[in-house]
This record gives sequence, structure tokens and C-alpha cells, in this order.
Amino acid sequence: MLWLRSRQWSSTTVLRPDNRVVMISGANRGIGLATAQALSAQGYRISLGARDTGTLEARNFDGNVMLHSWDATVEQSSIDWAAATRHHFGAIDAVVLNAGVMIKASLEAGSDHDMDTMWNVNFKGPLKLVRATLPDLQASGHGRVINVASLSGKRVFGSGNLGYCASKFAAMSLTHAIRQHNWQSGLRATAICPGLVDTDMVSDIATPDGEFKISPAAVAGTIAYALSLPNDASVAEILVNSRLEGTF
Ligand SMILES: NC(=O)c1ccc[n+]([C@@H]2O[C@H](COP(=O)([O-])OP(=O)(O)OC[C@H]3O[C@@H](n4cnc5c(N)ncnc54)[C@H](OP(=O)(O)O)[C@@H]3O)[C@@H](O)[C@H]2O)c1
Repeated sequence: MLWLRSRQWSSTTVLRPDNRVVMISGANRGIGLATAQALSAQGYRISLGARDTGTLEARNFDGNVMLHSWDATVEQSSIDWAAATRHHFGAIDAVVLNAGVMIKASLEAGSDHDMDTMWNVNFKGPLKLVRATLPDLQASGHGRVINVASLSGKRVFGSGNLGYCASKFAAMSLTHAIRQHNWQSGLRATAICPGLVDTDMVSDIATPDGEFKISPAAVAGTIAYALSLPNDASVAEILVNSRLEGTF
């Protein structure tokens, strides 16, 4: 069945939202909220997950939207959200792995608990959600996983943010593993790797002259772009700078 679907790829310049169903984790604020607003406005059917659904209800989303509770650290939570989305919309075409945490844990200091929290939310949470949706993504024929990783998953500045970097390097490996899984089904994965983005997560970080914080809406635009790419335009990584960097 999956093989037959793979034979049905058609080469287009963009994939249209049409009836595509996209799940977005951590959609109640920050990049996840901006992505939910952007994709809803474009006509996607969206399923939004957050720990506290009250924070989603307060956003008053328009369009074809469903809300569901989701905690990255609870395996059953991913299974339940995927099942509810499947039941409500009848399909799952894409997952935006967005929810994440950054806690200070450096080379010299940082608790096991904080390291474990970042590992659980930034790597194992997305993994659980992908496992819960993989059959749907493969059956879609144009399944997409967009992983909101970070430039901190590409390079390390100093030693102060080691715990977060490690979790985001792991998130990058997850993205590449998905890319190499069942390519023939049309499943594609893209890591979005921003520098500083203007959200709660980095509200205590100042930007020197010449640097800036990327708007959440701009990051949402890169996610929408990645979702629009057809099967024959697979892009593994999109790097988004908030300052001039020599390597990227
Ligand atoms: N801001 C940046 O500079 C930046 C740069 C590069 C990459 N990123 C990545 O972008 C993604 C979104 O971050 P953001 O900047 O939008 O941060 P944010 O405004 O702090 O939002 C983080 C989101 O993750 C959710 N979350 C945290 N722990 C969770 C858990 N255990 N279960 C479910 N949801 C959980 C939060 O939910 P609650 O509201 O319930 O806490 C919230 O929705 C993250 O993966 C982050 O690492 C951010």
C-alpha cells in the first residue's frame, strides 16, 4: 500500500494546505502560537497540543482547529493526542515538533534533573510524538515532520549552555533518522534551526548592537515554507541567523 502511494508522487512546485492536517506541539505561546496562527490562516486543518488546554482556548483560534492536552514527558499523552486527531480529522499529514525548554546547565555545573528535563522534553518528547504518528505520516503520501531544533543543535558557543545544546544535537539526529525512514512513502523531515527568537525562552538574554531576535512570525514562515515543499524538494535543515556567523 505504502509502495503504491509512493508511485503516485506528482511533481509540483508547492504542496497546498488544502485538507492537510498538521499537529503542532507547544502551540499556546511563542513560536508554536505563531505557527498555529500562520498555518490556520493558510487553510491547514490544525491540531494543537499544550500542557494546559486553557492556555490554548484563551487564544481564540479561527479556522478548522482542534485543541488537545499534551505533555512531552508522558508517553500516553502522545498516543492520546494522535488518536484524538486521527478521530477528529481522519488523517495526520504533518507534525511540527515545537515544544521545548532551555534550562541553564553548563560544563561545570548543572543538575541531573535539569539535564534530564531537557533530554525528556527536547528529544524524547518529539520522539514519542513521531512514534505515535508514524503510521499516519507514512500513509499520507506526503507526510512531513518539522522539528524546531536550534542553531544550538549545529554548533556550540562556549560551555555555558551544554545541556541545551546536547538535547538539540539529539533533536537533529532525530530529524535525520526520520528522513532516512521510509523515504519511499513520501515522508520528509526538516529541522528548523533558528538563532535567538523573541519569545519567553530568551527574554532574559540581551542582544548587543548588530544582533537581533528573530520574530516568532518569521520562524513560523520558515515552517510554513518547509510544509509547502513537495516530495521532490526535500530540505533537511533550514538555518535562520539572528547574527552574522562565520560558519553558517
Ligand atoms: N526562543 C529562542 O531563541 C529559540 C531559538 C531556537 C530554537 N528554539 C526552540 O523553539 C521551540 C519553541 O520555543 P519558544 O521560543 O517558542 O519558547 P517558549 O515561548 O518558552 O515556549 C515553549 C513551549 O514549549 C512548551 N513546553 C515546555 N515543556 C513542555 C512539556 N513538558 N510538555 C509540553 N509542552 C511543553 C511550553 O508549554 P507551557 O506553556 O505549558 O510551558 C510552550 O508552549 C523550542 O523547541 C525551542 O527550543 C527557540
